[in-house]
Amino acid sequence: MKVLVIGSGAREHALVWKLATSPNVTKVYCSPGNAGIAQQATLLNVDASNPLQLAEIADKEEIDLTVVGPEAPLVAGIVDAFSRRKRRIVGPTKAAAQLEGSKIFAKEFMARHHIPTADFTYCETPESAFDIISSGVYRFPVVLKADGLAAGKGVVIAQDAEEAFATIRRFMIDKSLGSAGTRLVIEEYLSGQEASLLVFSDGKDILPMPLAQDYKAAYEGNRGPNTGGMGAYSAAGMLPDKLLEQIISKIAEPTIAGMADEGRPFRGVLFIGLMLTDEGPRVLEYNVRLGDPEAQAVLMRLESDLLEILEAIVNEDLKSVRPCWSSDSTVCVVMAAEGYPGTPRTGDIISGLEEATKLDGVRIFHAGTKLDEKNRYVTSAGRVLAVTARHRALEEARKLAYKAVSTIDFPGKHYRKDIAEIR
Ligand code: AMP
Ligand code: GLY
Repeated sequence: MKVLVIGSGAREHALVWKLATSPNVTKVYCSPGNAGIAQQATLLNVDASNPLQLAEIADKEEIDLTVVGPEAPLVAGIVDAFSRRKRRIVGPTKAAAQLEGSKIFAKEFMARHHIPTADFTYCETPESAFDIISSGVYRFPVVLKADGLAAGKGVVIAQDAEEAFATIRRFMIDKSLGSAGTRLVIEEYLSGQEASLLVFSDGKDILPMPLAQDYKAAYEGNRGPNTGGMGAYSAAGMLPDKLLEQIISKIAEPTIAGMADEGRPFRGVLFIGLMLTDEGPRVLEYNVRLGDPEAQAVLMRLESDLLEILEAIVNEDLKSVRPCWSSDSTVCVVMAAEGYPGTPRTGDIISGLEEATKLDGVRIFHAGTKLDEKNRYVTSAGRVLAVTARHRALEEARKLAYKAVSTIDFPGKHYRKDIAEIR
């Protein structure tokens, strides 16, 4: 079977690596991929943001199954474009991807289906947003969220009215996020510990994955600006079973059932971002895809054939698979380029990759790498590598990941030193 992975980051590298181990996969393609992925897959040079061209190339290459990494092509309707051509693809349709594509849709959906989330209002105009803040119905801090896709830049926790007004002006009047910020969600601030649950779904049933913890802030101790994710770990027993059951029965299952009831069945990976409040778990956001770097940590624990799970999603027969997850722990440390999460410097030469790859239990997933004219790996984006290690004991997996990180070098590299540090 020929499979195609869409995207170009370390999450997609992990998908490519795992699929390449499947006995039924004869060839793996990736579009557009990166220099690391090119070692394991044939790259197609079509941008992930071009669904129609991707569907055409999948036809031409006679791809049997396509898997989509990032959210943008899903929200743009790539699954619909493939389905029209009868090409099998894993992911939600455009209508179902609205769970991530529109925060207003997601919040109203949760309200309709009594899925616990923060109290909210939404505004179509800056005037109504100013009025809501001035009215004092929400206490500070208050959370402001741009409605559309904003690559992690669309959420502001405003400490006072001044900051809230400035954000409303920036998003709704100055259009700093383009059309993503023309509508705004204003919501109650929740406190507690954050957790994410990722589930596979075929539109009817769900299959939860092991939990993974992401580190979003750029620097140690959760300081500094937000990033796409600086690392992750996954280990057995991260949440009490009872809490997990509650998240599944009160949130994950009603979400999938609600989407089916509304005629937009959700097939693919649903990522539920949660705040564990004193009143119980509340949904912060939905994503309609695997997390990056959560995917790297989680896929390293999958013992079974990933292809089988993906096929069961497309065949709407998820009940028939019972994947096996290792009880080992995994730790993923992201190595980033100078300047990230601002504008990264690129073109720095990376050394030590070969040595790090030789470490037992370590996989280096490439995120932003390319080959220069002398065939050397150089940096090409903000997140460069996702160095991932697996071991029976979390602390050993952590040591192993950092050992690999310390053998890799490039000018301006930076990474968090506290990934999976349990205090
Ligand atoms: P989101 O993209 O909606 O997950 O928001 C990004 C981050 O903002 C989350 O991971 C939380 O840390 C924070 N956040 C979002 N909504 C809330 C909320 N209602 N209360 C507190 N923090 C929030
Ligand atoms: N690591 C968070 C995300 O993929 O959205």
